[in-house]
Amino acid sequence: VTPLPTVSDLEKEFIKKHSKSQKLYERARNILPSGVSHDGRFAKPFPIYMVKAEGTHKWDVDGNEYVDYVMGHGGALFGYGDPRLRAAMEKALANPHMGACTELEIEWAETIERLVPCAKNGYVRGCSCGGEAVEEAVRVARIHTGKDKIVIHEGCYHGKWEETCVGRGPPYGLVNQKGIPKAIRENVILVPYNKPEAVEAAFRTGEVACILLQGNAPYTKDYIKTLRELTTKYGVVFIMDEVVSGFRYSVGGAQEYYGVTPDLAALGKVIGGGAPCGAVAGPKEILQYYEFRDEYWNRFIRPAVGGTWNMQPLSIAAGIEAMNICDKEHEKIYPRLYEIGKRLTKNLNDTAADLHIKVTAGGLPPENPTNITATLDPHASPLAAYAVDLTLKNNGFFSYRGISGHTTFKYTEEDLRQTEDAFRKALEVIKENKLTPTV
Ligand SMILES: Cc1ncc(COP(=O)(O)O)c(C=O)c1O
Repeated sequence: VTPLPTVSDLEKEFIKKHSKSQKLYERARNILPSGVSHDGRFAKPFPIYMVKAEGTHKWDVDGNEYVDYVMGHGGALFGYGDPRLRAAMEKALANPHMGACTELEIEWAETIERLVPCAKNGYVRGCSCGGEAVEEAVRVARIHTGKDKIVIHEGCYHGKWEETCVGRGPPYGLVNQKGIPKAIRENVILVPYNKPEAVEAAFRTGEVACILLQGNAPYTKDYIKTLRELTTKYGVVFIMDEVVSGFRYSVGGAQEYYGVTPDLAALGKVIGGGAPCGAVAGPKEILQYYEFRDEYWNRFIRPAVGGTWNMQPLSIAAGIEAMNICDKEHEKIYPRLYEIGKRLTKNLNDTAADLHIKVTAGGLPPENPTNITATLDPHASPLAAYAVDLTLKNNGFFSYRGISGHTTFKYTEEDLRQTEDAFRKALEVIKENKLTPTV
């Protein structure tokens, strides 16, 4: 029996297979801090540089092929280059972004209004990305309530906006705070997930404008229902960040999946069909602050904002197509997406059990995962995660570092088998090299 590779063997194999990526990384490091412009794309010994993506696969500069589990950071629910989205974009390309109103943007907003529960009979305001949507939702919530404080959850991710960065990671209040003024941090109340008593204590201060709940986070159905009750009771705006869960958990997002309608939804990713996009959607009573009215209102109440790329035709044309396909083909798309998530997480858990090592695989929502993540044994060596990452990439599996990524409903049986083979190899490597304890 050939012995399984050591970490150093894996690294050598990786470097051999990715020599052009290594060269590009040397060049990139000189001009981009640590060579990247998205934290998730940073990897050791260096990131892989891609040249092409089609369907469920990506190809790198060295000609290696991968089954992809990044899926455009979640936006590519349809895999890459779906011909229908591509056709919509090509049609839109005939005209540049004109910085003007178009009929297309009305159709795009009407589609959101029709499909996202909290948008029913309401307004939609377009912007360029999910993080902007979160920021704009909080701004109108503050205008609406006349209050400043916001409640967010420990470990949440709502984009790059400084107020929401406060929830980044433990120890809370210390991590990722540099550069965020104290006055801003003081506006943020952090609560753990699934502890309604902490939320109520915050609401009781009477200073809270809104609470943000990340649609794709580890909360329970009971918790989200309680949040709806508490926000109604205390007059706090309930903002659901559906940037990932929108059109991914179900057509109408996590709010439809759980049957709990928030006040506002912040949307992104799929609503742009693979191109940059964001939106805030909700009742007119709250989004009315964007209306132009009399002089006083416009100067002293209305948030004055532009947005060069708002309603950029490429994104909204592809977004209309994407949302309509989600709606028309929902019976085909979502059961398959969930089935894939369940199969892959079960496979990982079963393989780990078979090898007598501890790896906890899961995804969200827990009963029907639309992504996959795997946590190694807390007693594993720090090298274990690196060995897993190298093994996966050497064997044609591409996600963020390790096993953590978004799925599409388009994987073929062959894709899934290849993925499961890569999982087994990665777990065997950490077992064989004694990087994780046996249990
Ligand atoms: C839950 C969630 N909210 C907000 C954002 C920010 O979206 P964007 O990167 O489009 O600004 C992200 C991005 O990944 C996200 O995952």
